[in-house]
Amino acid sequence: MIDAGRAIATATPETFREVSRKWASGIAVVTAVDSHGALFGTTMSAVVSLSISPLQYLICIDRKSNSLPAITSTGWFCINMLSSSQERIAMTFAKKGTDKFSAISYREGLNRLPIIQDVASYIICHLNSSFDGGDHVIIVGDVIEIGLHDASPLVYLNGRFNNG
Ligand SMILES: Cc1cc2nc3c(=O)[nH]c(=O)nc-3n(C[C@H](O)[C@H](O)[C@H](O)COP(=O)(O)O)c2cc1C
Repeated sequence: MIDAGRAIATATPETFREVSRKWASGIAVVTAVDSHGALFGTTMSAVVSLSISPLQYLICIDRKSNSLPAITSTGWFCINMLSSSQERIAMTFAKKGTDKFSAISYREGLNRLPIIQDVASYIICHLNSSFDGGDHVIIVGDVIEIGLHDASPLVYLNGRFNNG
C-alpha cells in the first residue's frame, strides 16, 4: 500500500500498479485481422491521441498479445472505443482465446477490420512506426477513418468500470 501521508513511495511493481490504478482511462478493444482472415481483438487502456498534424494515435500492446502479430504483419488495426454499457465486451476481450467474436455483434469495415456494434467511437489506423516499450510495444498509427457515435465512454479507474 502507498501511504497517503508520504510524498514518495519506493518504486516497485506493486507501487507501480497501485499508482497506475489511480489514473482514469477510457477502454478500447483494438481489433485486427490477419492475412488468412482470422480475427483478433484485445482490451486496452493504453490508447493515446498522439498528434493532430499528422493525425496519429498511439497504443501500447503486450509483447505476449496474440493480436500483436496481426497488427504488425498487416499494418492495420481498429481502435473500438467502448461505450459505458459495454463492460461485458471489455471483459470478453481481456481474456485469451480464439472465439472472442462469437458472442458479440460487429461488422467488417475497411480492410475487413472488425468494428464492434454500439461503440462510442472507432478509429481505423495504419501502422506508421513501432518502438520498444519494455514488455510492451509502442505502436503509432496514422488515422485513416473515424466513426463517431452518440454514446458516453466506458471509464476505467481503481480496477473498476464506470466507477461502479
Ligand atoms: C482494463 C484493462 C486494460 C488493459 N489494457 C491493456 C493495454 O493497454 N495493453 C495490453 O497489451 N493489454 C491490456 N490489457 C490486457 C489484455 O486485454 C489481455 O492481456 C488480453 O488477454 C490480450 O488478448 P490477446 O492475447 O488475444 O491479444 C488490459 C486488460 C484490462 C482488463
